[in-house]
Amino acid sequence: MKIVIRESSEVLSALIAERFINLIKSKPNCVLGLATGSSPIKTYQGIIKAYQEGEISFSNVHSYNLDEYLNFPRESDSYAYFMKENLFSHVDMNLANAHFPNPSDPEAYDALIKQDPVDLQILGIGADGHIGFNEPGTSFDSKTHITPLTEQTIKDNARFFPSIDMVPTKAVTMGLSTILKAKSIVLIATGAGKVEAINALLTKEDETCPASILLRHNDVTLYLDKEAAKDILNKDIPGVTFDR
Ligand code: F6R
Repeated sequence: MKIVIRESSEVLSALIAERFINLIKSKPNCVLGLATGSSPIKTYQGIIKAYQEGEISFSNVHSYNLDEYLNFPRESDSYAYFMKENLFSHVDMNLANAHFPNPSDPEAYDALIKQDPVDLQILGIGADGHIGFNEPGTSFDSKTHITPLTEQTIKDNARFFPSIDMVPTKAVTMGLSTILKAKSIVLIATGAGKVEAINALLTKEDETCPASILLRHNDVTLYLDKEAAKDILNKDIPGVTFDR
Protein backbone atom coordinates (compact mmCIF):
# COMPACT_ATOMS: atom_id res chain seq x y z
CA MET A 1 0.00 0.00 0.00
CA LYS A 2 1.08 3.54 -0.75
CA ILE A 3 -0.01 6.63 1.20
CA VAL A 4 0.19 10.13 -0.25
CA ILE A 5 -0.22 12.95 2.29
CA ARG A 6 -0.79 16.55 1.20
CA GLU A 7 -2.07 19.76 2.75
CA SER A 8 -5.36 20.13 0.89
CA SER A 9 -8.11 18.19 -0.85
CA GLU A 10 -7.46 20.34 -3.95
CA VAL A 11 -3.92 18.99 -4.33
CA LEU A 12 -4.97 15.41 -3.58
CA SER A 13 -7.86 15.61 -6.06
CA ALA A 14 -5.56 16.96 -8.77
CA LEU A 15 -3.19 14.01 -8.24
CA ILE A 16 -6.04 11.52 -8.51
CA ALA A 17 -7.55 13.29 -11.53
CA GLU A 18 -4.14 12.98 -13.22
CA ARG A 19 -4.25 9.21 -12.72
CA PHE A 20 -7.68 8.98 -14.35
CA ILE A 21 -6.64 11.30 -17.19
CA ASN A 22 -3.46 9.29 -17.89
CA LEU A 23 -5.44 6.05 -17.84
CA ILE A 24 -8.06 7.36 -20.30
CA LYS A 25 -5.28 8.66 -22.58
CA SER A 26 -3.37 5.38 -22.59
CA LYS A 27 -6.49 3.16 -22.72
CA PRO A 28 -9.47 5.01 -24.26
CA ASN A 29 -11.77 2.03 -23.67
CA CYS A 30 -10.81 1.72 -20.00
CA VAL A 31 -13.21 0.75 -17.22
CA LEU A 32 -13.65 3.15 -14.31
CA GLY A 33 -15.02 2.34 -10.86
CA LEU A 34 -16.76 5.46 -9.58
CA ALA A 35 -18.02 6.76 -6.26
CA THR A 36 -20.43 9.48 -5.13
CA GLY A 37 -20.39 11.59 -1.95
CA SER A 38 -18.30 14.69 -1.37
CA SER A 39 -14.84 13.07 -1.58
CA PRO A 40 -14.55 12.54 -5.38
CA ILE A 41 -16.21 15.79 -6.52
CA LYS A 42 -13.00 17.81 -7.04
CA THR A 43 -11.39 14.86 -8.81
CA TYR A 44 -14.34 14.78 -11.22
CA GLN A 45 -13.90 18.54 -11.77
CA GLY A 46 -10.25 17.97 -12.75
CA ILE A 47 -11.26 15.22 -15.16
CA ILE A 48 -13.97 17.44 -16.71
CA LYS A 49 -11.39 20.20 -17.26
CA ALA A 50 -9.12 17.78 -19.14
CA TYR A 51 -12.08 16.79 -21.33
CA GLN A 52 -12.97 20.43 -21.99
CA GLU A 53 -9.38 21.14 -22.97
CA GLY A 54 -9.54 18.30 -25.52
CA GLU A 55 -7.09 16.03 -23.70
CA ILE A 56 -9.42 13.04 -23.31
CA SER A 57 -12.66 11.55 -24.59
CA PHE A 58 -15.12 9.35 -22.69
CA SER A 59 -16.72 7.99 -25.85
CA ASN A 60 -15.33 4.49 -25.26
CA VAL A 61 -15.06 4.57 -21.47
CA HIS A 62 -17.17 2.18 -19.36
CA SER A 63 -18.01 2.87 -15.73
CA TYR A 64 -19.36 0.97 -12.75
CA ASN A 65 -20.62 2.96 -9.78
CA LEU A 66 -20.18 1.54 -6.34
CA ASP A 67 -23.71 1.91 -5.08
CA GLU A 68 -27.21 3.30 -5.35
CA TYR A 69 -29.87 4.11 -2.79
CA LEU A 70 -33.12 2.17 -2.61
CA ASN A 71 -36.38 4.13 -2.35
CA PHE A 72 -34.81 7.56 -2.78
CA PRO A 73 -37.45 10.26 -2.23
CA ARG A 74 -36.74 12.32 -5.36
CA GLU A 75 -35.01 11.46 -8.66
CA SER A 76 -32.42 14.11 -7.81
CA ASP A 77 -31.43 12.12 -4.69
CA SER A 78 -30.28 9.11 -6.72
CA TYR A 79 -26.60 8.42 -7.29
CA ALA A 80 -27.28 8.09 -11.03
CA TYR A 81 -28.43 11.73 -10.92
CA PHE A 82 -25.37 12.71 -8.85
CA MET A 83 -23.08 11.21 -11.47
CA LYS A 84 -24.84 13.06 -14.30
CA GLU A 85 -24.59 16.35 -12.40
CA ASN A 86 -20.97 15.91 -11.30
CA LEU A 87 -19.40 14.14 -14.28
CA PHE A 88 -21.33 12.48 -17.07
CA SER A 89 -23.29 15.45 -18.43
CA HIS A 90 -20.06 17.48 -18.69
CA VAL A 91 -18.19 14.93 -20.81
CA ASP A 92 -18.98 12.79 -23.88
CA MET A 93 -19.88 9.73 -21.80
CA ASN A 94 -22.30 7.33 -23.48
CA LEU A 95 -24.79 6.76 -20.65
CA ALA A 96 -25.42 3.21 -21.93
CA ASN A 97 -21.85 2.47 -20.75
CA ALA A 98 -22.45 3.90 -17.25
CA HIS A 99 -23.55 1.12 -14.93
CA PHE A 100 -25.21 1.09 -11.50
CA PRO A 101 -26.08 -1.96 -9.41
CA ASN A 102 -29.64 -3.18 -9.90
CA PRO A 103 -31.48 -3.94 -6.64
CA SER A 104 -33.68 -6.54 -8.34
CA ASP A 105 -30.63 -8.64 -9.35
CA PRO A 106 -27.59 -7.47 -7.35
CA GLU A 107 -25.23 -10.34 -8.23
CA ALA A 108 -25.68 -9.70 -11.97
CA TYR A 109 -23.35 -6.75 -11.32
CA ASP A 110 -20.53 -9.11 -10.29
CA ALA A 111 -21.01 -11.15 -13.47
CA LEU A 112 -20.88 -7.98 -15.58
CA ILE A 113 -17.76 -6.70 -13.81
CA LYS A 114 -16.08 -10.09 -14.19
CA GLN A 115 -16.37 -9.70 -17.98
CA ASP A 116 -15.44 -6.01 -17.94
CA PRO A 117 -12.97 -5.61 -15.05
CA VAL A 118 -12.44 -2.21 -13.47
CA ASP A 119 -9.04 -0.69 -14.29
CA LEU A 120 -9.13 2.09 -11.70
CA GLN A 121 -11.54 2.40 -8.77
CA ILE A 122 -11.98 5.58 -6.75
CA LEU A 123 -13.25 5.23 -3.18
CA GLY A 124 -14.24 7.51 -0.34
CA ILE A 125 -14.48 6.11 3.19
CA GLY A 126 -17.23 6.45 5.78
CA ALA A 127 -16.50 7.62 9.32
CA ASP A 128 -17.30 4.02 10.35
CA GLY A 129 -14.83 2.57 7.82
CA HIS A 130 -17.38 1.65 5.15
CA ILE A 131 -16.42 1.56 1.47
CA GLY A 132 -19.28 1.52 -0.99
CA PHE A 133 -22.08 0.88 1.46
CA ASN A 134 -20.35 -2.10 3.04
CA GLU A 135 -20.98 -1.29 6.66
CA PRO A 136 -18.94 -2.71 9.59
CA GLY A 137 -19.41 -6.47 9.91
CA THR A 138 -19.93 -7.05 6.16
CA SER A 139 -18.17 -10.22 5.03
CA PHE A 140 -14.94 -9.73 3.11
CA ASP A 141 -16.39 -12.34 0.70
CA SER A 142 -19.49 -10.25 -0.04
CA LYS A 143 -20.69 -9.72 -3.59
CA THR A 144 -23.03 -6.96 -4.75
CA HIS A 145 -25.95 -6.94 -2.31
CA ILE A 146 -28.71 -4.92 -0.67
CA THR A 147 -27.83 -3.53 2.74
CA PRO A 148 -29.41 -1.42 5.48
CA LEU A 149 -27.43 1.74 6.24
CA THR A 150 -26.16 2.30 9.78
CA GLU A 151 -27.42 5.17 11.91
CA GLN A 152 -23.99 6.79 11.56
CA THR A 153 -24.16 6.70 7.75
CA ILE A 154 -27.74 8.01 7.72
CA LYS A 155 -26.61 10.90 9.97
CA ASP A 156 -23.53 11.57 7.81
CA ASN A 157 -25.60 11.63 4.61
CA ALA A 158 -28.38 13.82 6.05
CA ARG A 159 -26.44 16.86 4.80
CA PHE A 160 -27.53 16.00 1.26
CA PHE A 161 -31.28 15.92 2.16
CA PRO A 162 -33.82 18.49 3.44
CA SER A 163 -34.30 16.42 6.63
CA ILE A 164 -32.82 13.28 8.19
CA ASP A 165 -36.07 11.32 7.80
CA MET A 166 -35.75 11.69 4.01
CA VAL A 167 -32.39 9.85 3.94
CA PRO A 168 -32.90 6.39 2.40
CA THR A 169 -32.26 3.59 4.89
CA LYS A 170 -31.17 0.95 2.37
CA ALA A 171 -28.82 0.77 -0.58
CA VAL A 172 -27.48 -1.70 -3.13
CA THR A 173 -23.70 -1.82 -3.11
CA MET A 174 -20.80 -3.59 -4.77
CA GLY A 175 -19.57 -6.12 -2.22
CA LEU A 176 -16.11 -6.04 -0.68
CA SER A 177 -14.90 -8.91 -2.86
CA THR A 178 -16.30 -7.06 -5.91
CA ILE A 179 -14.40 -3.87 -5.07
CA LEU A 180 -11.20 -5.81 -4.52
CA LYS A 181 -11.27 -7.10 -8.12
CA ALA A 182 -10.35 -3.64 -9.46
CA LYS A 183 -6.83 -3.62 -10.90
CA SER A 184 -5.88 -0.37 -9.12
CA ILE A 185 -7.66 1.41 -6.28
CA VAL A 186 -7.36 4.98 -4.99
CA LEU A 187 -9.05 6.14 -1.79
CA ILE A 188 -9.38 9.78 -0.80
CA ALA A 189 -10.06 10.85 2.78
CA THR A 190 -9.96 14.36 4.15
CA GLY A 191 -10.84 15.99 7.44
CA ALA A 192 -10.77 15.06 11.10
CA GLY A 193 -13.92 12.93 10.80
CA LYS A 194 -11.97 10.25 8.89
CA VAL A 195 -9.05 9.81 11.36
CA GLU A 196 -10.47 6.80 13.17
CA ALA A 197 -11.51 5.06 9.96
CA ILE A 198 -8.02 5.51 8.47
CA ASN A 199 -6.36 4.29 11.67
CA ALA A 200 -8.60 1.20 11.76
CA LEU A 201 -7.98 0.51 8.06
CA LEU A 202 -4.22 0.48 8.70
CA THR A 203 -4.31 -1.57 11.91
CA LYS A 204 -5.21 -5.00 10.58
CA GLU A 205 -7.59 -6.84 8.24
CA ASP A 206 -10.78 -7.03 10.24
CA GLU A 207 -14.41 -7.11 9.14
CA THR A 208 -15.26 -4.50 11.79
CA CYS A 209 -13.47 -2.05 9.46
CA PRO A 210 -14.62 -2.92 5.92
CA ALA A 211 -11.95 -0.69 4.33
CA SER A 212 -9.23 -2.82 5.93
CA ILE A 213 -9.81 -5.36 3.15
CA LEU A 214 -7.69 -2.98 1.05
CA LEU A 215 -4.60 -4.26 2.93
CA ARG A 216 -5.00 -7.42 0.80
CA HIS A 217 -4.74 -5.63 -2.54
CA ASN A 218 -1.38 -5.07 -4.22
CA ASP A 219 -2.17 -1.73 -5.90
CA VAL A 220 -3.89 0.63 -3.48
CA THR A 221 -3.01 4.28 -2.83
CA LEU A 222 -4.58 6.28 -0.01
CA TYR A 223 -4.68 10.04 -0.64
CA LEU A 224 -4.99 11.78 2.74
CA ASP A 225 -4.93 15.36 3.89
CA LYS A 226 -2.99 16.23 7.04
CA GLU A 227 -6.15 16.13 9.17
CA ALA A 228 -7.20 12.64 8.13
CA ALA A 229 -3.54 11.49 8.43
CA LYS A 230 -3.07 13.20 11.81
CA ASP A 231 -1.97 10.02 13.63
CA ILE A 232 0.43 8.77 10.94
CA LEU A 233 2.23 11.97 9.96
CA ASN A 234 5.56 10.75 11.36
CA LYS A 235 4.90 7.04 11.61
CA ASP A 236 6.45 4.15 9.70
CA ILE A 237 4.08 1.30 8.94
CA PRO A 238 5.42 -2.05 7.68
CA GLY A 239 4.35 -2.69 4.08
CA VAL A 240 3.41 0.97 3.48
CA THR A 241 5.36 3.40 1.27
CA PHE A 242 4.82 7.04 2.19
CA ASP A 243 4.90 10.11 -0.03
CA ARG A 244 4.56 13.05 2.40
C1 F6R B 1 -20.37 6.69 -2.19
C2 F6R B 1 -19.83 5.68 -1.29
C3 F6R B 1 -19.51 5.97 0.13
C4 F6R B 1 -18.76 7.27 0.35
C5 F6R B 1 -18.47 7.49 1.83
C6 F6R B 1 -17.77 8.81 2.09
O1 F6R B 1 -20.59 6.15 -3.48
O2 F6R B 1 -19.67 4.59 -1.73
O3 F6R B 1 -18.75 4.90 0.64
O4 F6R B 1 -17.55 7.24 -0.37
O5 F6R B 1 -19.68 7.47 2.54
O6 F6R B 1 -18.62 9.85 1.79
P1 F6R B 1 -18.09 11.34 1.66
O7 F6R B 1 -17.16 11.38 0.51
O8 F6R B 1 -19.32 12.18 1.39
O9 F6R B 1 -17.42 11.67 2.95
